[in-house]
Amino acid sequence: MAGDAPSSLPVQLVEQPRLLKLKESFIAKFGSAPKFYVRAPGRVNLIGEHIDYCGYAVLPMAIEQDILIAVEPVNNDVVQLANTNSLYLDFSTSVNDIQINKTKLQWHNYFLCGLKGIQVELAEICTKSERYIGTEGGGMDQSISFLAEEGTAKLIEFSPLRATDVRLPSGAAFVIANSCVEMNKAATSHYNIRVMECRLATKLLSKSKGLDWKKMLRLQDVQAKLGVSLEEMLTIVEEVLHPEPYSTEEICKCLGISLEDLRSQILSQNTQDVSTFKLHQRAKHVYSEAARVLEFKKICNEAPANAIQLLGELMNQSYISCREMYECSCPELDRLVDICLQFGAVGSRLTGAGWGGCTVSMVPTDKLNTFLKNVKKAYYQNDVQKLALKNNSLFATKPGRGALVFVEA
Ligand code: GLA
Repeated sequence: MAGDAPSSLPVQLVEQPRLLKLKESFIAKFGSAPKFYVRAPGRVNLIGEHIDYCGYAVLPMAIEQDILIAVEPVNNDVVQLANTNSLYLDFSTSVNDIQINKTKLQWHNYFLCGLKGIQVELAEICTKSERYIGTEGGGMDQSISFLAEEGTAKLIEFSPLRATDVRLPSGAAFVIANSCVEMNKAATSHYNIRVMECRLATKLLSKSKGLDWKKMLRLQDVQAKLGVSLEEMLTIVEEVLHPEPYSTEEICKCLGISLEDLRSQILSQNTQDVSTFKLHQRAKHVYSEAARVLEFKKICNEAPANAIQLLGELMNQSYISCREMYECSCPELDRLVDICLQFGAVGSRLTGAGWGGCTVSMVPTDKLNTFLKNVKKAYYQNDVQKLALKNNSLFATKPGRGALVFVEA
């Protein structure tokens, strides 16, 4: 259910080598022991890409790999942050003077944005917090981190936030493979441009249907207001939006607003100077991807004999739509997906924001070992940089549990 707080789990540190190591580093750094530890899992989105910020349900699961934080409350207003990776420098600041420099990306900003978020508002805190970084995210990552349960993926619906179990079929494993291309979505405008394109498509579709377009922000709002199916929305997109990119002039003309209004009332900070937007392709991706998420869940629930095949096809369609319509892939991801399909995946797709990062592939369990061996050879073996990352870059995973606080028993 939505709103469950992350759990706390008494643990014996001697049985938790990573926590023990973290405790030692903490003592070496600060001269005293942590009072508690926090873990938050990584996540993989199985299907439903770039639709959470449009209001549509997505289907991620938490993975077993996680990030750990050791904490000691202090009696003054100074926050001191240190990272076990020496690449990331120590940082301290007063809680009363939190400055987040959006133009300079620093690791501690992810901690500071949480702190700033708490000070502003408690509800749906993590999703809103991330916006202080500068990205207009939709809340998938934060929701699955809090709401995940071991052994099940989740359908995450937004407004109101709700999580429903989706039991994945036995007989297939999900494999994550890192393309080893880094795309920093806070430091670039790729991500926000897509969010803005969806927002603009929302406004143009709303206006053409006589809705109060100024109040509409997400593509899902249009569907809800019109009370039609996702398939009908796809027809409306074909009727209303043209495939050629829209210039800002054309958008302003359609909405009857000035360029200044467009910039100050609709566009985000880092998309102010973008001059063309693709609305038709982006809306098409969102409505079709939203339908694929519901179909994926239905197949998991009904579990027909060919479930794995059907789910694989949906993942492949999702990937093609991400690549062609949403244009959030990159050559390395394309190559990795091809390799994964070639070596036995029934479905393979980019996962998360894209333009780099990882793929997720569904692989029949009996082919898993040869799959891992062959993908390793084909994608990672001949590249020194990729080889260095390889051990953490290719692995099968199961749905893991959500965020929790550790207390020393
Ligand atoms: C990132 C964002 C999510 C979501 C995905 C794309 O991971 O943080 O909110 O939009 O991209 O599906």
